[in-house]
Amino acid sequence: MNDITEIFQAMSYGPAPEQADYVEDWLGQHESGFELFIDGQWCRPQTSTGTIASCNPANGKVLGKIARAGKDDVDAAVAAAAAAYPKWSGLPGHERAKYLYALARVVQKNSRFLAVLETLDNGKPIRETRDIDVPLVARHFYYHAGWAQLLESEMPDQQSLGVVGQIIPWNFPLLMLAWKIAPAIAAGNCVVLKPAEYTSLSALYFAQLCQEVNLPPGVINIVTGAGETGEHIVKHPDIAKIAFTGSTPVGKKIREQTAGTGKKLTLELGGKSPFIVFEDADLDSSVEGLVDAIWFNQGQVCCAGSRLLVQEGIAERLLEKIKTRLQAFRVGDPLDKAIDMGAIVDPVQHARIDALVNAGVAEGATRWQPAIDCPDTGCFYLPTLLTDVDTSNTVASEEIFGPVLTVMTFRTMKEAVALANNIRYGLAASIWSENINRALEVASQIKAGVVWVNCTNQFDAACGFGGYRESGFGREGGKEGMYEYLKQREGKSSKAGSVAPVIATPAPQADDAGRGAGGAVIDQTAKHYINGKQVRADNGLSRMALDADGVGAGRVADGSRKDIRDAVEAAVKAGSWSSATAHTRAQIIYYIAENLGRREAEFQQRLMQFAGASRKAARDEFAATLSRLFSYAAWADKFDGAVHTPPLRNVALAVNEPLGVMGIVCPDVMPLLSLVSLMAPAIAMGNRVVVVPSERFPLLATDFYQVLETSDVPAGTVNLVTGERDALATVLAEHHQVDGLWYHGSAAGSSAVELASACNVKRTWVNQGQPRDWLSVTQGEGRQFLREACQVKNIWLPYGDESRGGKGGY
Ligand code: NAI
Repeated sequence: MNDITEIFQAMSYGPAPEQADYVEDWLGQHESGFELFIDGQWCRPQTSTGTIASCNPANGKVLGKIARAGKDDVDAAVAAAAAAYPKWSGLPGHERAKYLYALARVVQKNSRFLAVLETLDNGKPIRETRDIDVPLVARHFYYHAGWAQLLESEMPDQQSLGVVGQIIPWNFPLLMLAWKIAPAIAAGNCVVLKPAEYTSLSALYFAQLCQEVNLPPGVINIVTGAGETGEHIVKHPDIAKIAFTGSTPVGKKIREQTAGTGKKLTLELGGKSPFIVFEDADLDSSVEGLVDAIWFNQGQVCCAGSRLLVQEGIAERLLEKIKTRLQAFRVGDPLDKAIDMGAIVDPVQHARIDALVNAGVAEGATRWQPAIDCPDTGCFYLPTLLTDVDTSNTVASEEIFGPVLTVMTFRTMKEAVALANNIRYGLAASIWSENINRALEVASQIKAGVVWVNCTNQFDAACGFGGYRESGFGREGGKEGMYEYLKQREGKSSKAGSVAPVIATPAPQADDAGRGAGGAVIDQTAKHYINGKQVRADNGLSRMALDADGVGAGRVADGSRKDIRDAVEAAVKAGSWSSATAHTRAQIIYYIAENLGRREAEFQQRLMQFAGASRKAARDEFAATLSRLFSYAAWADKFDGAVHTPPLRNVALAVNEPLGVMGIVCPDVMPLLSLVSLMAPAIAMGNRVVVVPSERFPLLATDFYQVLETSDVPAGTVNLVTGERDALATVLAEHHQVDGLWYHGSAAGSSAVELASACNVKRTWVNQGQPRDWLSVTQGEGRQFLREACQVKNIWLPYGDESRGGKGGY
């Protein structure tokens, strides 16, 4: 047979390497080592602590030496950013938009260089860096140029934060840089960014591009180094916000380290995302989807579809198809344009993957790998299937972060949802079914920030990305991503009414003998309100509530850990509130207002008697409380999501979903109004709440639950536990079934809440001891509260039907 006949019969790929010499030339120019990019200049670390070798994982060759920035260098970078901030944040949005546009253009002009550099440094196929990573980087700068332009008109109540510290991982080095930097600088912040130690080269080249577009010095500073450098950023007192993407343990540590500092925080952490295939799915498409879900970027993707859940009847057929596909897989030189999978980023990660796979096999899983060529030098790992995985197997719950798919079967839709949600993470999910009703039903039930229907790993700057549960909080991309780099504009209060002073009268004393601190004993003990019923404190204790003059006004239950646990359990079970229609929730909130309105005289009297309000103050507080209930009844069916139209024949439904179970810890000021101002937005958005009312004036709350009792609020939707604010807040913060926590109390209490919340990466919103003007409609109510009560889920739906004309043939 001649060569042509052989080639024709084998139909195998020939080598198709991308040219890399011009990138190698650039690397050669930096042979002596890369420097730090601070204040628009290249500088050496102030204290020499050695360098980090950045290697090509495909062949182990050293590409460059990366500087390790120390504390002094981070200080210098933060100082440069702080110095640049007033001018940068003061520029008209249009001026900032021009810089972002210039960055988008310069990325496009350098796209081939960046793609090759990224592939050399990270090991991912050039096909991906060229067609996905780099185009998305440019798209992020374009999209956010738009936000810089529109900020003043679209978000007039928002302002930038200051200096932002950003720490990114190695799996999408340049894309993560763009996800972080573009919204931050569009909003008017200045940035200190640390790339991951394995993959800093594209960030350093990007710094060069910043010089090329004459970005003002100090707006973007890039400091390289390992975890210690990241810690210097996290701990720096002049940084207003930390944005982190990386592992869950480091994310939790950063939550703890920033607790009580007032730093804003977003965490994008790990995942173990389900890829669910129903028996009515298009199996061939789902196999290709699976290739993109778990073998894209060697599976080193936080939202990788690493758990295949397949309906029992088609499991065998699907597995056969997957195996057939993998037998044709090509693993090898990432610079080869016809390669399916490149190299794992570093031997450390390779060893970690292998150790987890071995642990899974030791615990009963069966390993399958295709019999295909795999380079024997370099950091390569064959695509791997793990079957016979039961739910207790390590690999069923641990993020492997490699090209390894675990396989489980299910029988019913209910079982599929239960398996999908049986994990501490909640980043993404992919659902495959030709039945759109089923797909959307499952999408609504999955606890994840992104759900792809009949597609997978779709990203766009217009569509927010981020997690539920231990996958973190905050969103990147979309309008919601912009809010993460903004705060409510200070000094604008749209209604008269100064902040009520915190009344510094003695705190109530707990005792079990029924004696008040100086007042007559009143024969009444108000109970907790749990699961729609008034219940005594579990420990039987009560505490005297004093009035504003320090005289005993009545006894309330003294809540304990057990009471909070009972209240959370009731809230967990009250899931029907979250699935009730917005119209139903609105009606019930109106009904609360109606029933409260009937008791106007009584509540005003109680505000004067218990909280020391003047007649006028009591009248104002009561009127504002009624108005607030009306506001959130109004908002319940108006705080809608959005429909995005990203490229590639998709729509993405951005749905505002409730957090789930929320703890709400109330301040002492305006005890009725503040309680309602916090409770109402949370339940309007579908959350079930455990409220700790004012510690100082709890009797207003115990009167208020009588109103709830008569207003058709389903049992468990609102629970009230009276007692010591900070002790109960900490129990809520530590509770694993509490999804979000709002705290209004002292600075120390805020700090304790943030610290304890790290256990399950709970979303918190704390007041740092600062008072709020509850009477003001700008400070006391509105979108900020609603945003804090929701998390956005983006559901991606592709469209297009070949039988109706195919590509654009409608
Ligand atoms: P990592 O979380 O340690 O690293 C991510 C970034 O955080 C890097 O820039 C690193 O230098 C920095 N960092 C590390 N310790 C820090 C600290 N104490 N304070 C501040 N910054 C710190 O992740 P690593 O070790 O590279 O990978 C380990 C595992 O993490 C992976 O196997 C994977 O499971 C997960 N991971 C998840 C990512 C995601 O996108 N969700 C990305 C990278 C890793």
